[in-house]
Amino acid sequence: MVTVRPIEARDAEVWSVFRGRLWPDADTGELLAEALAFTRGADLPIVTAAFIAEEAAVALGFIELSVRAFSDGCESRPVPHVEGWYVERDARGRGIGRALIDAAESWARQRGFKELASDSELHNVDAQAAHLRCGFFEAHRLVKFRKPL
Ligand SMILES: CC(C)(COP(=O)(O)OP(=O)(O)OC[C@H]1O[C@@H](n2cnc3c(N)ncnc32)[C@H](O)[C@@H]1OP(=O)(O)O)[C@@H](O)C(=O)NCCC(=O)NCCS
Repeated sequence: MVTVRPIEARDAEVWSVFRGRLWPDADTGELLAEALAFTRGADLPIVTAAFIAEEAAVALGFIELSVRAFSDGCESRPVPHVEGWYVERDARGRGIGRALIDAAESWARQRGFKELASDSELHNVDAQAAHLRCGFFEAHRLVKFRKPL
Protein backbone atom coordinates (compact mmCIF):
# COMPACT_ATOMS: atom_id res chain seq x y z
CA MET A 1 0.00 0.00 0.00
CA VAL A 2 1.32 3.41 -0.95
CA THR A 3 1.40 6.08 1.73
CA VAL A 4 2.17 9.77 1.44
CA ARG A 5 3.69 11.67 4.36
CA PRO A 6 5.65 14.85 5.00
CA ILE A 7 9.33 14.55 4.15
CA GLU A 8 11.58 14.06 7.19
CA ALA A 9 15.31 14.25 7.86
CA ARG A 10 15.79 10.55 7.02
CA ASP A 11 14.38 11.21 3.50
CA ALA A 12 16.83 13.95 2.52
CA GLU A 13 19.11 11.70 0.51
CA VAL A 14 16.48 9.84 -1.51
CA TRP A 15 14.54 13.04 -2.00
CA SER A 16 17.61 14.73 -3.46
CA VAL A 17 18.20 11.73 -5.75
CA PHE A 18 14.62 12.05 -7.02
CA ARG A 19 15.09 15.82 -7.40
CA GLY A 20 18.14 15.10 -9.53
CA ARG A 21 16.12 12.76 -11.74
CA LEU A 22 13.47 15.44 -12.18
CA TRP A 23 16.01 18.23 -12.77
CA PRO A 24 18.99 16.50 -14.42
CA ASP A 25 20.68 19.83 -15.26
CA ALA A 26 20.71 20.96 -11.63
CA ASP A 27 23.80 20.75 -9.43
CA THR A 28 23.41 17.56 -7.39
CA GLY A 29 25.36 19.05 -4.49
CA GLU A 30 22.96 21.99 -4.34
CA LEU A 31 19.92 19.72 -4.53
CA LEU A 32 21.21 17.70 -1.58
CA ALA A 33 22.15 20.81 0.37
CA GLU A 34 18.62 22.19 -0.09
CA ALA A 35 17.05 18.88 0.93
CA LEU A 36 19.22 18.69 4.04
CA ALA A 37 18.54 22.31 4.93
CA PHE A 38 14.78 21.90 4.54
CA THR A 39 14.62 18.72 6.58
CA ARG A 40 16.67 20.39 9.31
CA GLY A 41 14.06 23.12 9.52
CA ALA A 42 15.62 25.90 7.48
CA ASP A 43 13.24 28.52 6.11
CA LEU A 44 13.75 28.18 2.34
CA PRO A 45 11.94 30.38 -0.19
CA ILE A 46 11.97 27.57 -2.75
CA VAL A 47 10.48 24.78 -0.60
CA THR A 48 7.71 25.39 1.90
CA ALA A 49 6.28 21.88 2.07
CA ALA A 50 7.37 18.50 0.74
CA PHE A 51 5.83 15.04 0.77
CA ILE A 52 7.17 11.61 -0.07
CA ALA A 53 5.28 8.59 -1.37
CA GLU A 54 6.46 5.19 -0.24
CA GLU A 55 5.45 1.56 -0.37
CA ALA A 56 6.84 -1.00 2.07
CA ALA A 57 9.30 1.66 3.24
CA VAL A 58 10.60 2.17 -0.32
CA ALA A 59 10.38 5.76 -1.55
CA LEU A 60 8.66 6.07 -4.93
CA GLY A 61 8.11 9.77 -5.49
CA PHE A 62 7.77 13.23 -4.04
CA ILE A 63 6.01 16.54 -4.38
CA GLU A 64 7.33 19.86 -3.17
CA LEU A 65 5.64 23.23 -2.94
CA SER A 66 6.64 26.79 -2.47
CA VAL A 67 4.35 29.70 -1.72
CA ARG A 68 4.84 32.22 -4.50
CA ALA A 69 3.91 35.89 -4.26
CA PHE A 70 1.78 35.31 -7.36
CA SER A 71 1.46 32.87 -10.21
CA ASP A 72 0.36 33.77 -13.75
CA GLY A 73 -3.22 32.69 -14.33
CA CYS A 74 -4.14 32.40 -10.65
CA GLU A 75 -6.64 34.68 -8.95
CA SER A 76 -5.28 34.64 -5.41
CA ARG A 77 -1.96 35.73 -3.98
CA PRO A 78 0.17 34.49 -2.42
CA VAL A 79 -0.45 31.09 -3.94
CA PRO A 80 1.04 27.65 -3.30
CA HIS A 81 2.90 26.36 -6.34
CA VAL A 82 3.94 22.81 -7.21
CA GLU A 83 7.68 23.15 -7.77
CA GLY A 84 8.50 19.47 -8.14
CA TRP A 85 6.30 16.44 -8.82
CA TYR A 86 7.98 13.14 -9.53
CA VAL A 87 7.26 9.41 -9.44
CA GLU A 88 9.80 6.72 -10.26
CA ARG A 89 9.31 5.47 -13.82
CA ASP A 90 8.38 1.89 -12.87
CA ALA A 91 5.81 3.14 -10.36
CA ARG A 92 3.96 5.51 -12.68
CA GLY A 93 0.35 5.03 -13.70
CA ARG A 94 -0.71 3.55 -10.36
CA GLY A 95 -2.20 6.65 -8.74
CA ILE A 96 0.89 7.72 -6.81
CA GLY A 97 1.15 11.07 -8.59
CA ARG A 98 -2.48 11.77 -7.79
CA ALA A 99 -1.93 10.84 -4.13
CA LEU A 100 0.95 13.32 -3.98
CA ILE A 101 -1.24 16.06 -5.48
CA ASP A 102 -3.94 15.20 -2.93
CA ALA A 103 -1.42 15.67 -0.11
CA ALA A 104 -0.36 19.04 -1.54
CA GLU A 105 -3.98 20.09 -1.84
CA SER A 106 -4.76 19.12 1.75
CA TRP A 107 -1.72 21.02 2.98
CA ALA A 108 -2.84 24.11 1.04
CA ARG A 109 -6.51 23.91 2.07
CA GLN A 110 -5.55 23.56 5.73
CA ARG A 111 -3.70 26.86 5.42
CA GLY A 112 -6.65 28.61 3.82
CA PHE A 113 -5.39 28.72 0.24
CA LYS A 114 -8.03 28.63 -2.48
CA GLU A 115 -5.88 27.63 -5.44
CA LEU A 116 -2.95 25.39 -6.25
CA ALA A 117 -0.65 26.47 -9.09
CA SER A 118 1.74 24.40 -11.13
CA ASP A 119 3.54 24.52 -14.45
CA SER A 120 5.11 22.29 -17.04
CA GLU A 121 7.61 22.56 -19.87
CA LEU A 122 5.82 22.94 -23.21
CA HIS A 123 7.26 19.67 -24.49
CA ASN A 124 6.21 17.69 -21.41
CA VAL A 125 2.83 16.65 -22.75
CA ASP A 126 2.68 13.66 -20.37
CA ALA A 127 2.91 15.94 -17.35
CA GLN A 128 0.34 18.28 -18.88
CA ALA A 129 -2.06 15.37 -19.35
CA ALA A 130 -1.46 14.20 -15.78
CA HIS A 131 -2.15 17.73 -14.46
CA LEU A 132 -5.43 17.88 -16.37
CA ARG A 133 -6.48 14.44 -15.08
CA CYS A 134 -5.69 15.59 -11.54
CA GLY A 135 -8.07 18.54 -11.77
CA PHE A 136 -5.83 21.37 -12.95
CA PHE A 137 -6.82 23.41 -15.97
CA GLU A 138 -4.53 25.36 -18.22
CA ALA A 139 -4.51 28.93 -16.95
CA HIS A 140 -1.73 30.67 -18.87
CA ARG A 141 1.10 30.30 -21.39
CA LEU A 142 4.18 32.46 -21.55
CA VAL A 143 7.66 32.57 -23.06
CA LYS A 144 10.54 33.36 -20.72
CA PHE A 145 13.46 35.51 -21.91
CA ARG A 146 16.94 36.11 -20.58
CA LYS A 147 19.48 38.82 -21.30
CA PRO A 148 22.94 38.32 -19.81
CA LEU A 149 24.28 41.54 -18.22
C1 LIG B 1 3.73 13.38 -13.72
C2 LIG B 1 3.90 12.21 -12.78
C3 LIG B 1 4.36 12.71 -11.41
C4 LIG B 1 2.55 11.50 -12.60
O1 LIG B 1 2.72 10.44 -11.69
P1 LIG B 1 1.88 9.07 -11.81
O2 LIG B 1 2.08 8.30 -10.57
O3 LIG B 1 2.18 8.40 -13.09
O4 LIG B 1 0.40 9.65 -11.86
P2 LIG B 1 -0.97 8.85 -11.55
O5 LIG B 1 -0.80 7.41 -11.88
O6 LIG B 1 -1.43 9.19 -10.20
O7 LIG B 1 -1.93 9.51 -12.61
C5 LIG B 1 -2.74 10.64 -12.28
C6 LIG B 1 -3.70 10.86 -13.41
O8 LIG B 1 -2.97 11.36 -14.54
C7 LIG B 1 -3.15 10.49 -15.64
N1 LIG B 1 -1.86 10.38 -16.33
C8 LIG B 1 -0.65 10.14 -15.77
N2 LIG B 1 0.28 10.12 -16.71
C9 LIG B 1 -0.36 10.34 -17.88
C10 LIG B 1 0.06 10.43 -19.23
N3 LIG B 1 1.34 10.26 -19.56
N4 LIG B 1 -0.87 10.67 -20.19
C11 LIG B 1 -2.16 10.82 -19.86
N5 LIG B 1 -2.64 10.76 -18.58
C12 LIG B 1 -1.74 10.52 -17.63
C13 LIG B 1 -3.56 9.16 -15.05
O9 LIG B 1 -4.29 8.39 -15.98
C14 LIG B 1 -4.37 9.60 -13.87
O10 LIG B 1 -5.67 9.96 -14.26
P3 LIG B 1 -6.94 8.99 -13.97
O11 LIG B 1 -6.83 8.62 -12.52
O12 LIG B 1 -8.10 9.86 -14.29
O13 LIG B 1 -6.76 7.83 -14.88
C15 LIG B 1 4.91 11.17 -13.35
O14 LIG B 1 4.49 10.80 -14.64
C16 LIG B 1 6.33 11.69 -13.45
O15 LIG B 1 7.09 11.62 -12.49
N6 LIG B 1 6.71 12.20 -14.63
C17 LIG B 1 8.10 12.64 -14.83
C18 LIG B 1 8.38 13.92 -14.08
C19 LIG B 1 7.45 15.05 -14.50
O16 LIG B 1 7.26 15.30 -15.68
N7 LIG B 1 6.88 15.71 -13.49
C20 LIG B 1 5.99 16.81 -13.70
C21 LIG B 1 6.78 18.04 -13.97
S1 LIG B 1 5.71 19.37 -14.43
